[in-house]
Amino acid sequence: MARRPMVAGNWKMFKTAGEGAILTQNIEQLVSGVWDEVEIVVCPPFTALKSVSTVIELDRLQMGLGAQDVHWEEEGAFTGAIAPRMLTDLRCDYVIVGHSERREYFGETDESVNKKAKAVYAAGMVPIVCVGESLAVREADETESFVRSQVRAAVEGLGPEDAASLVIAYEPVWAIGTGRTPTPEGANDVARAIRATVGATFGQPAAISMRVLYGGSVKPENAHMFFAEPDIDGALVGGAALEAESFAAIAEAAR
Ligand code: 13P
Repeated sequence: MARRPMVAGNWKMFKTAGEGAILTQNIEQLVSGVWDEVEIVVCPPFTALKSVSTVIELDRLQMGLGAQDVHWEEEGAFTGAIAPRMLTDLRCDYVIVGHSERREYFGETDESVNKKAKAVYAAGMVPIVCVGESLAVREADETESFVRSQVRAAVEGLGPEDAASLVIAYEPVWAIGTGRTPTPEGANDVARAIRATVGATFGQPAAISMRVLYGGSVKPENAHMFFAEPDIDGALVGGAALEAESFAAIAEAAR
């Protein structure tokens, strides 16, 4: 089964509600021929989810909507946190879980990533689980074993049917926002290892149908090289997702 490519924009802590709505409309103008072949997803900050969701609904866009984080509990006394049901209420399809910035600055652990992934599925959404090695891990030549262990921890206890729809973004920490990237072949090696790890736990059908994205300094100029790799099914884009032109160009490259 051919996997449908996905290009997802992680807006991080950029764009107000109004700015996000405008960006979404501008993306829409530029990607009209791409929808059928490429799944396009935008992940605004929580405060822009409603306005972006409204644009998607009113303009009947085939654009997926994702949040950047979630709490694993259904509800409760967790000041500042957002529950899964609050996201489905805004028609979110996806939630980014375990981004390296959340691991580094907000105490996210393999264990919390796993709890969040389960909670996202339980609410009827799909997690985009982020994994990736630091420069120190890479220089110690431990990238694959490190990433495999992050993947195993993240997917523990999921059902096989959940694993089949899973999205994992391979984002080397040293490539995020730096303009540096691994070679496409090197990124594909890790993507293949991620797929094999999921396959070892959930079986070959899940490994074949899950999607692995590459993330880290993806730009219109380099996107096609990553997309040409057999185990890379798209991209999770940071900086270049904040401009409609560059994001649309990356989506076009995924066709
Ligand atoms: P950049 O594309 O800005 O390097 O960010 C990648 C990223 O962290 C996406 O989640």
